[in-house]
Amino acid sequence: MDKFGSIKRTMWCGAARMEDVGREIAVCGWVQKRRDLGSLLFIDLRDRSGILQLAFDDKTDPAVFEKALTVRSEYVLAARGVLRERASKNYEIPTGEVELEVTALQILAKSETPPFEIVENSDVNDVLRLKYRYLDLRRPDMARMLQLRHKVVKCARDYFDEQGFLEIETPILTKSTPEGARDYLVPSRVHPGKFYALPQSPQQYKQLLMVAGVDRYFQIARCFRDEDLRADRQPEFTQIDLEMSFVDEDDVIAVNEGFLKRVFKTVLDVDIETPIPRMPYREAMERFGSDKPDLRFGLELRDVSDIVAGCGFKVFSGPVAEGGSVRAICVPGGAKAFARKQIDALTDFVKTYGAKGLAWMRLSEEGASSSFAKFLTEEETAAILKRCGAKTGDLVLIVGDASDKVVFAALGALRCEVARRMDLIPKGVYKLVWITEFPMFEYSEEEGRYVAVHHPFTAPMDEDVDLIETDPANCRAKAYDIVLNGTELGGGSIRISTPEMQRKMFRALGLSEEDAQERFAHLLTAFKYGAPPHGGLAYGLDRLVMLLGGAESIRDVIAFPKVQNASEPMTNCPDTVEQKQLEELHIAVAAPEGE
Ligand code: AMO
Repeated sequence: MDKFGSIKRTMWCGAARMEDVGREIAVCGWVQKRRDLGSLLFIDLRDRSGILQLAFDDKTDPAVFEKALTVRSEYVLAARGVLRERASKNYEIPTGEVELEVTALQILAKSETPPFEIVENSDVNDVLRLKYRYLDLRRPDMARMLQLRHKVVKCARDYFDEQGFLEIETPILTKSTPEGARDYLVPSRVHPGKFYALPQSPQQYKQLLMVAGVDRYFQIARCFRDEDLRADRQPEFTQIDLEMSFVDEDDVIAVNEGFLKRVFKTVLDVDIETPIPRMPYREAMERFGSDKPDLRFGLELRDVSDIVAGCGFKVFSGPVAEGGSVRAICVPGGAKAFARKQIDALTDFVKTYGAKGLAWMRLSEEGASSSFAKFLTEEETAAILKRCGAKTGDLVLIVGDASDKVVFAALGALRCEVARRMDLIPKGVYKLVWITEFPMFEYSEEEGRYVAVHHPFTAPMDEDVDLIETDPANCRAKAYDIVLNGTELGGGSIRISTPEMQRKMFRALGLSEEDAQERFAHLLTAFKYGAPPHGGLAYGLDRLVMLLGGAESIRDVIAFPKVQNASEPMTNCPDTVEQKQLEELHIAVAAPEGE
């Protein structure tokens, strides 16, 4: 192996262009590929910026040529030479018109054969990729994602700085105030039996910073939530978190629309239109069955409850009588696209959302066929078709349930699934929408009490303040989510800023005075000393980068993510620790694994 130093890099591999021809340059990187053509030898050298072809021929110093012959995939090289125009050009890569005529070569490290080929979009199983993540990250598509993430973070720092925000770090070892997801706990050595919690978000600290007069705060904040993983969820993730004083919803939204405009322009060169449309929660549910509607396609829900309320078909009339609803989507051209077998698959699909079944009607050239026609009068069927705007060739899909929640969940997911299957989702289109007027509370059957939909620090809408006590189910919050193409990018709210209102909210959530004091004394006390009206928002940075980069999962935009069971295959954590460590922490493990 050669000693590092005599060849000093002067250029990134991916930067070489025709205008550099004739220059002496030096590059460093990993061997993508070696092609041996007898008297000619080519090495594709890769660094994080791209690939440059190194050329060796009969004019090359024989010692250099000999050394080049020993090189294998993923060896680390430094090469110096003169850039020249290629005889046969490759227009697929940015450096494809040039190559380096190598005069000096150093092998800086050898490599074993990697467990998978390091190429773009390779089809390697995820656990293997994550076990050798440092190799996975060498792949150009992954390297691009890391660079994109950096760009987004830099854009956030620049923008919020320009807007007068201060970047302030808040603690990672904090107090457990369970609300929402489960906490990750950290045992205290010096306080036997006591625990810190890792923050689910910097929510309370950022509010306290407003009481402190910081006025405009932001942070690239690491958050921890012990919840089930999904494509857009990790136990450890990052927020672009911000809070502002002396603001109402419009002020927070305006600053954030400025940020979104900037980030889309900087990263994708896309101009997004502002103001971004706003849609009340209720409308989003009624039209799209979701509080994070994907507005890139139609397939809107239609309520047919009034039409079927008195019909002879129990599957429809039953749910309406029980206070639920019957709703439909019309799939243009769906009659042909979905044969019986596919409709069966869609039925299984809606069942995973709690629906009992899926009723359907196909309007083909040969006439109508359906799963329910014989139970409905002709007028009732005609009224449903009219309500849905169904035409020949269309397919109408209907879900009824005693719980509106089930109907919305099933049809909301179904419209996305159908759009995917029918390829109705346009590429390169970014549909942003603010969802507003969220319900303040949601009844939790599991806990037998109302829980906060957003969090317990969110202010109620002025006109709904009295409903906190009289009709919590209909009390709306000054909360807003920003949704992009069906994914919740971020969420925030105007906060409660008086101890009286905060106490009232804790009471509505079933927290006793003592409990509230025990858990939230810091906040309740702080509010006694002059809290400005304030509000803010947090983006899921990983989700933002995923959508901007066109990735399928936030895993692809996090350097070292966790897998499904919240473990990390590379370092193999979580792992057992030494008995001595446990003793220091006053911990006895009750049920070791496997017992
Ligand atoms: P919320 O809980 O809505 O609000 O979180 C804000 C945003 O963070 C992202 N997010 C996640 N990303 C990846 N993995 C997860 N497990 C995960 N959970 C949430 C989402 C979400 O929109 N303190 C409030 C914000 C506020 O009110 O200012 C909060 O944390 O993109």
